[in-house]
Amino acid sequence: MLTNHGEAGHWKNLTNSMQAHILQGNNSKYLYFPDQPETIISKGKFSVVYIAAEVKTKEKVICKQLSPSLFGNEVAKLRFFIESSINLKHPGIVKTLDLIVEENAVFLIQEFVYGYTLKELIQNRKYFDYRYNKFFYKIIIKCLDALSYIHSNDICHCDIKPANIILEDPEYDINTDDPVIKIIDFGNVKKSYEADDLDKVNKTYNVMYGSPEQIFGFPELIGEHTDIFSTGLVLYETIAKEPALKTVNPLLLRRLQSVVKIEKHFRFDDDLYYIISKATTKPNLPKSESYYSTYDLKFEIIKSLSLRYQTAEDFKNDLDKLLN
Ligand SMILES: Nc1ncnc2c1ncn2[C@@H]1O[C@H](COP(=O)(O)OP(=O)(O)O)[C@@H](O)[C@H]1O
Ligand SMILES: [Mg+2]
Repeated sequence: MLTNHGEAGHWKNLTNSMQAHILQGNNSKYLYFPDQPETIISKGKFSVVYIAAEVKTKEKVICKQLSPSLFGNEVAKLRFFIESSINLKHPGIVKTLDLIVEENAVFLIQEFVYGYTLKELIQNRKYFDYRYNKFFYKIIIKCLDALSYIHSNDICHCDIKPANIILEDPEYDINTDDPVIKIIDFGNVKKSYEADDLDKVNKTYNVMYGSPEQIFGFPELIGEHTDIFSTGLVLYETIAKEPALKTVNPLLLRRLQSVVKIEKHFRFDDDLYYIISKATTKPNLPKSESYYSTYDLKFEIIKSLSLRYQTAEDFKNDLDKLLN
């Protein structure tokens, strides 16, 4: 199974032998190794994530670099600065340590979270057995705790998905009774002050977990309920072991994701299905999308929002009942 642990000895050898670059932050200095592909954890459209080290303590940290191709894009850069400005202190949220702005590059330094992403964990057959369902409920409960805190700070994460949730496991020994999670990747957050302009690059959310208000492209309707919707789909996947959205056909995808009610999966009981349905309430639009005006689409979405869980806390309270 994939893991980001690495081997302690291996890491030491690497740091000794590699060509290191030093990044001078506000709070400390960091070493990273841009010439060593083995130090890249992830490379996406928007960023490259490296394993790096804090110089004094030699502690592993994450160095997230804004993708060099976006360096000239002011909106992308502003989004990156917003991500670095999220300074939330909560056990369920990754800590940002520093922001480094160089002439030709921008870096974000974060604590390194040892463990597995929820994406890896869902795919691990070891946890397919029904007796692990409560373990996954507990993971989602911890996510909802962290989301409550995020929302109480007037921030919406807007990209909740299994790859953005890490299950901490520093000892190679997952505690299935009391899992510890961290939400990462605040690269798509919506803050209460956010101007429309920044939304133009706000296309980084994953369609598989996107809410109707995101899919239809109504940023003004995005709020806490958007994260609640995505978390409902993550909950679906933790138990079903497959995503709720089972097509990649772009024509079908839009309607399936934004309008068609989630069906009950054979691995769900009625109580779980009730919770998932409530978290993922969608607008009532029986005719094809082109039939409706923008006003009608917005009106139906707004109407449906009152049927979704209103807060992460409400969602959590219902899920808590499944633990008994
Ligand atoms: N703080 C961290 N600790 C450990 N792994 C991390 C951390 N941050 C990111 N990662 C890994 O890098 C991947 C991409 O990071 P993320 O912040 O989600 O960037 P992107 O915006 O490109 O999706 C994550 O899915 C995870 O596997
Ligand atoms: Mg991500």
